[in-house]
Amino acid sequence: MQSWRQLPEMKPFVEMTPLETDEGPSTPHSCSTFNNLTVLQHLFNTSPVGDTLEIGLAFGASATLLCKLHALRGDNTRHHAIDPYQISQWKSAALKHLLSCELSERLVWHEKPSFAAMAGLVQAEARFSLIYIDGSHLFEHVMSDFMLADLLTEPGAVLAFDDSSCDHVAKVVCFIRQNFKEEYAEESPYAITAPSAAWWKGPLARALGKQQLTIFRKLRASKRAWGTPLTNF
Ligand SMILES: C[S@@+](CC[C@H](N)C(=O)[O-])C[C@H]1O[C@@H](n2cnc3c(N)ncnc32)[C@H](O)[C@@H]1O
Repeated sequence: MQSWRQLPEMKPFVEMTPLETDEGPSTPHSCSTFNNLTVLQHLFNTSPVGDTLEIGLAFGASATLLCKLHALRGDNTRHHAIDPYQISQWKSAALKHLLSCELSERLVWHEKPSFAAMAGLVQAEARFSLIYIDGSHLFEHVMSDFMLADLLTEPGAVLAFDDSSCDHVAKVVCFIRQNFKEEYAEESPYAITAPSAAWWKGPLARALGKQQLTIFRKLRASKRAWGTPLTNF
């Protein structure tokens, strides 16, 4: 499989050329890093076959990649993206780009805050093989994204947290590391982006609190009794 950088649909995100929006052309920003996109491509290929989900659509860098990967796989799976601000703030940039790339049919867009959209998906008993958490970075929102993502996945699925060097996100990541040891195994993004240096890059980035992306693979269903003691984090 070719690298995502070679995909024509990803060209605006590689070259940072303007995308069409409701208010004219606009240069993409706030996109996932190149390393994140490389890791997402790898995770897509190593996760169970199924729909994927992301919180935070913005200009659509990660959504374009994931929609394209679904299309290349050629089955009937789709990518769900949650973002209440796609029209008001992002002027439909991602929706327009996906339409121009003929990828719209691979996207299910939820125009709601993540807590509301994900609660609806839980109620509908939806399941996802890969969930990319890249929406609001407030602690309480990321925590709610994690709690609901846990309900939307089966063993083998992956949760990936962007900006895990941000204090709010880092706190949630620490909570998971300390309190969900039986349920989730952490995987190193550096094993994918820098395999020969992963042995030192991972521990160093983690010790310095500089790890951009944190990945957890689900090992088993979470069955925590209400009285489970909290391990400090
Ligand atoms: C960093 S950007 C996402 C970048 C995108 N994943 C990409 O690679 O192009 C964060 C996005 O989260 C969205 N967002 C903010 N609060 C949100 C919430 N409560 N629920 C869902 N999305 C939210 C913002 O509108 C913004 O589009």
